[in-house]
Amino acid sequence: MAGATGTERGELSLQDTSLLTDSMVHEVHAGLARTQKTLSPKYFYDKKGSELFDAITMAPEYYPARTEVQLLRTHSDELAELLGKNSYLFELGSGSSVKIRLLLEALRPRRYIPMDISRDHLLAAAARLARDYPWLEINSVHIDYSRPWDMPDFGPGRYNVFFPGSSIGNFEPHAALALLRKVAMLGGVGGGLLIGVDLKKDVSVLEAAYNDAQGVTARFNLNILSHINQRLGANFEPRNFAHRAIYNETHGRIEMHLACLRDHGVRMQGRAYEFATGETIHTENSYKYTIAEFHALAAQAALFPVKVWTDSKALFSMHYLVRR
Ligand code: TRP
Repeated sequence: MAGATGTERGELSLQDTSLLTDSMVHEVHAGLARTQKTLSPKYFYDKKGSELFDAITMAPEYYPARTEVQLLRTHSDELAELLGKNSYLFELGSGSSVKIRLLLEALRPRRYIPMDISRDHLLAAAARLARDYPWLEINSVHIDYSRPWDMPDFGPGRYNVFFPGSSIGNFEPHAALALLRKVAMLGGVGGGLLIGVDLKKDVSVLEAAYNDAQGVTARFNLNILSHINQRLGANFEPRNFAHRAIYNETHGRIEMHLACLRDHGVRMQGRAYEFATGETIHTENSYKYTIAEFHALAAQAALFPVKVWTDSKALFSMHYLVRR
């Protein structure tokens, strides 16, 4: 297994955790130094952020999670047939590993390899899975999958990657393509990708999904500041910011921002940043695709569509693609 070292039982380490913090310092400074200040969405996911994210998926306005679960449930037999039993089953951004449960009995994978940036959350989820599926071999991988990593190679066999939740939409199109190419390499020729992709639709439906009435998404968005305070010793005051989510028609994406409510300064690791009332920190994009747009992107990664499923309202799509 290239570059991997076992730490805890079943846990693989493909990146050095201290490097994750180093690269975080640089990335956060670089983002805050820009005219349009930005923070990478991967910094949402500390333990609290992962929990808030789980809460978002329960919000009535947040149709993607619910719709995807319904698609997985409805088509699990067909999915099992296409993905095949006994495969090496990877999941990118596995979080609580809840969705995979819908497939495990049908797929009976040879091994499940959950990958996530939030280590505590990852290990807790793996422990729960191990308890509930005693027959399942699990290798948890603590990783920032948006950065370079060595691909775990378990030897010959069938490889499938599960990438739900439309997380592909959180990447810029060029980065989404790079990630799809990486996934295509992981599986090799014949390797499969089961991916959830949110679809373009009426703006009011899209915007409601990212502005739930209970304000969970707002808390999730603001939590990025607390996480940066904790990890990097910054002094962000979350009360000085407010959650904004709007659909950008030109780019076909939901944009999440933190809007500054009063002029103030923030310090982080010896540097000072000025914030003016009304300016924003751009925290996330969530690109929406049509099915044809997504297929065109995947084709550039040599991933060819075997089957696509959507719900009756065409809110969300699930694709099975195979590397040719
Ligand atoms: N990738 C999903 C999406 O873009 C889930 C997600 C990521 C999300 N960050 C979020 C959902 C913030 C709501 C708010 O929809």
